[in-house]
Amino acid sequence: MTAGSTAARICVTNAKGGTGKTTVAINVAGALNERGRDVLFVDMDPQGNATEGLGLLSAYDAPPPTLFDVLTDHTRRDDVTDLIVEHEEMDVLPSSIELLQAEHELTIADLMAQIQGDDSLDGGVDALSALSINATPDAVEGPHALGSLAATLEHVEDDYDYIIVDSPPFYGKLTDTAIFATRNVLVPALTEASSERAIELLVEQIAALEGHVDITVETVGVVANRVEQTNEDQMMIDWLNEVFSGFPVWEVRKRVALQRAFSEGNSLFATDGSTDVEEVFLQIAAEFDRQFGYAEVTA
Ligand SMILES: Nc1ncnc2c1ncn2[C@@H]1O[C@H](COP(=O)(O)OP(=O)(O)O)[C@@H](O)[C@H]1O
Ligand SMILES: [Mg+2]
Repeated sequence: MTAGSTAARICVTNAKGGTGKTTVAINVAGALNERGRDVLFVDMDPQGNATEGLGLLSAYDAPPPTLFDVLTDHTRRDDVTDLIVEHEEMDVLPSSIELLQAEHELTIADLMAQIQGDDSLDGGVDALSALSINATPDAVEGPHALGSLAATLEHVEDDYDYIIVDSPPFYGKLTDTAIFATRNVLVPALTEASSERAIELLVEQIAALEGHVDITVETVGVVANRVEQTNEDQMMIDWLNEVFSGFPVWEVRKRVALQRAFSEGNSLFATDGSTDVEEVFLQIAAEFDRQFGYAEVTA
């Protein structure tokens, strides 16, 4: 630990698939490690791409308990310590094939929270309970049930400087749960016209979540990803700088080295050779250290 007693938490998110969430999350985590930070990487995508890209597919297929149990069964949050796997650059809380059921469970738990205390819906909670695997009425407190990852991370966060969360390529309870736990988002966006709508929806979705559960979510930056040297790319970068004026907008070029690192099971920082994009990820890591109050590493 270098500063504070709780880890800085950042969710890499954009509901559009293929924008580079997983790639950016892994390489930001690698860059933070390169700067001497202790990182926990959390894969909240049921498809487990990041778990695969960190070379941990066997963890994805491991028998229970998994991240599913920890997130959906409030009596098992502290099992999280048994699930964390070591990677040469970071610790990883892997996704699991069972996480495919989590959206359903988290939705039921959230509905329970919403109808609890409403006499006109008496009996509804029991009916919901019968439909769920782990969600029980006594587990749900307060007006929503999006706190499960936040409660889970409390058991481990003292060991880390940063917790980087990769999110699924869709809106839903898993993504809301990830943003609720982190309160900070890093947004990767492709530099093509289709990104505009994805970004507008993301901004609306985050505003809706902030209103629904009464939190403030900070945008820690935007990554214009897979950038090429065309007019369309430049127009999108200009658009992103306008929409996110006052926030850092980084540019990551299209580089096969990122795909190569993924198939080797690590970030660019643990592979041979170097590219210009490593410098960008180091800049992102340095900016996070600045935003979250970590001192410069003096080696
Ligand atoms: N800057 C980049 N240059 C080249 N390929 C990239 C870049 N960023 C992402 N990719 C590739 O694009 C695909 C989608 O990226 P991924 O990180 O999986 O997106 P998401 O997690 O948002 O779905 C992957 O095959 C990944 O290797
Ligand atoms: Mg992904």
